[in-house]
Amino acid sequence: MEKKAIYEGKAKILYETDNSDELLVYYKDDATAGNGAKKGTIVDKGIMNNKMTKFFFDLLAEHGIEHHCLAVPSEREMLVKKLTIIPLEVIIRNVAAGSLAARLGLAEGTKMKIPVIEFCYKNDDLGDPMVNRYHILAMELATDDELTTIQNLSLKINDILTKFLKEKKVDLIDFKLEFGRDKDGKVILADEISPDNCRFWDSDTKEKLDKDRFRRDLGGVEDAYKEMLRRLTGQE
Ligand code: ADP
Ligand code: TMP
Repeated sequence: MEKKAIYEGKAKILYETDNSDELLVYYKDDATAGNGAKKGTIVDKGIMNNKMTKFFFDLLAEHGIEHHCLAVPSEREMLVKKLTIIPLEVIIRNVAAGSLAARLGLAEGTKMKIPVIEFCYKNDDLGDPMVNRYHILAMELATDDELTTIQNLSLKINDILTKFLKEKKVDLIDFKLEFGRDKDGKVILADEISPDNCRFWDSDTKEKLDKDRFRRDLGGVEDAYKEMLRRLTGQE
């Protein structure tokens, strides 16, 4: 059967399936930065990000976190629960970097005393502006209860990932999550967890093992993704 694409994003394509409750996500090698201002390709990124996302979702499920992944039918495809995405980018930061460092005048690498949660309104035309709890409630992007759930899940996910990655000699600097509602209204972790939406630094050398190598033209982009995959799964 010919698959019908229902959405093509910057990094992934969503296809309908025979089951109206499920979607097939196809992971591309396309890379963008600055809301699409910089475009490129990272060879085999789609394959590596699909594998790393599956790995992280399995790890989180072992700790009781529900996520959207149902199966990985091929190296670039993930079958997921179709969700109504809550239009928020949920950013969790353990160490100042990127836009936080710039906005608050902090040196990159400054440890935050507590994890910082930020919300951005998912809207490419507006450049995903930062919003707070009041904006979210006033615009009815999520309910108060949903926001509390999102915040609690995000902090728990941060704990699980930070501890796991430390053993792999990786510091989790910051990352972005997305959540969606299932047909019963339950809030579930969606999208992906990969070097595209996380900052990973080698614990000893502080070398960047994530998409900042692409964003900042640092070179060694593919090697950084490969190294993260190797540290997580042992796979070359
Ligand atoms: P973008 O839309 O920012 O360009 P992607 O290329 O990664 O990003 O596209 C994937 C899209 O799929 C995102 O808009 C994301 O919100 C959405 N998505 C992720 N998981 C699900 C899901 N389980 N159900 C429906 N949509 C999802
Ligand atoms: P930032 O420092 O650029 O705001 O990014 C914080 C984290 O969120 C970083 O790990 C990258 C991730 N991120 C996304 O995944 N998508 C985005 O659109 C943005 C702005 C950040």
